[in-house]
Amino acid sequence: MKHTKVKDLLNSSITLQEVNAKGWVRTFRNNQFIALNDGSTINNIQCVVDFENTPEETLKRITTGAAISVTGTLAESKGAGQQYEIQVAKLQILGDSDPEKFPMQPKKHSLEFLRENAHLRVRTNSFGAIMRIRSVLSFAVHSYFQQKGFVYVNTPIITGADAEGAGEMFQVTSLPLDNLPKTEEGNIDYKKDFFGKHTNLTVSGQLEGETFAMALGQIYTFGPTFRAENSNTSRHLAEFWMIEPEVAFNDLDANMDLAEDFIQYVIKYALDNCADDLKFLEARLLEEEKSKPQAERSEMTLLEKLNFVLENNFKRVSYTEAIDILRDSTPNKKKKFSYIINEWGADLQSEHERYLVEKHFKCPVILFDYPANIKAFYMRLNEDGKTVRAMDILFPGIGEIVGGSQREERYDVLIEKMKDLGIDEKELYWYLDTRRFGSAVHSGFGLGFERLVLFVTGMSNIRDVIPFPRTPMNAEF
Ligand code: 4AD
Ligand code: MG
Repeated sequence: MKHTKVKDLLNSSITLQEVNAKGWVRTFRNNQFIALNDGSTINNIQCVVDFENTPEETLKRITTGAAISVTGTLAESKGAGQQYEIQVAKLQILGDSDPEKFPMQPKKHSLEFLRENAHLRVRTNSFGAIMRIRSVLSFAVHSYFQQKGFVYVNTPIITGADAEGAGEMFQVTSLPLDNLPKTEEGNIDYKKDFFGKHTNLTVSGQLEGETFAMALGQIYTFGPTFRAENSNTSRHLAEFWMIEPEVAFNDLDANMDLAEDFIQYVIKYALDNCADDLKFLEARLLEEEKSKPQAERSEMTLLEKLNFVLENNFKRVSYTEAIDILRDSTPNKKKKFSYIINEWGADLQSEHERYLVEKHFKCPVILFDYPANIKAFYMRLNEDGKTVRAMDILFPGIGEIVGGSQREERYDVLIEKMKDLGIDEKELYWYLDTRRFGSAVHSGFGLGFERLVLFVTGMSNIRDVIPFPRTPMNAEF
């Protein structure tokens, strides 16, 4: 008999039929009631064991974590808490689990403990819910862009280009590290390396994406991205997933419209398709917040926060206005910020971004027109000669979720900028070609997928929304 998913059993309207379910035991109460979960839904199905006619030996093996198969009648449940249950006629232990040693006991575990057991934490309600939502959100990303006629582009993971100019890259090499080939000058001879040149893991698919936008019009990437920044924060991963749309003929305003519409679409998609999981995470968050001081608790529940983002426009504010607000803010005057904002040109830290979003505007904010010298080389210079058409989207509880810009499409201006920054024109000849042959206004942005999943799930550490996090000193599993 083919087994039926727990989700389908719970949604079924036909009772008193014989069914088979397979899954893992979450709990086993009174030698009689199994809560069975198979990952298809956060909800367990109750399986009622006929304990008088089940051998003692089998009953002992029904332990938390064990894999079992149950066959029996799907019936309306007499007990409280569930509509349906399986009245078990035949029970088979598929895989035993040692109850003494199985780490995922049916009790509350700390998130730290669960991180150390990332291969098992997905067997808990919270992580099951988070990973299902993550999956639905990635489908929503594709659904949004595909509906709008964007072409999905797979940009390379190994690259010779440093898109962000941040220099925080992981090197890729097949050279023997204990016996490096040297040039006559005594430098490492990358000509002998696998690709005949120095290569890295990509920090962004943008530059390659731009070449495709200059032919296909509207494109997006969605892939892994790597940054060797040694920032051990709850917002940074060394390996994360980024979505990068790039659109020919879009200016910065159109870019903002696209980003806002896109984010609202995927959040709505999660609300429409992950109701049970979100309800569970909302309750989890409420519970977690109880341990915080009143002042730090969120004024809204998770679902309220998600709906708030759907129902309200993002506030668009120029960098210059933001600096004025920050300079006059109480935490700045009282020197509560770690970095005091004194003058125009300062780079914003996450404390400033969060002040703007959480305290001042109390809604998502799009900051635009940043000083040229704190942003990447490819952003379009404004008429004022000192700001660029950059935009960052800031979210409550998260800080920066999107970074993007209108690109510098003027060949001469771009070359000038690259010279100033010491970026090798020869290395990026292919990028410059987009400006030499049929250049056009174009814009794009990058959304950090895990930061989106953080926001939607209400989790507070980015390590908890990716299956196996990669962070400094941590590449377990
Ligand atoms: O602002 P970033 O660095 O922008 C770019 O990479 C551009 N090339 C994007 C573009 O215009 N096509 O990164 C974009 C987003 C950030 O806003 C943030 O959400 C996320 O990527 N991000 C990270 N997420 C997790 N861990 C990290 N270390 C991240 N660094 C950036
Ligand atoms: Mg950024």
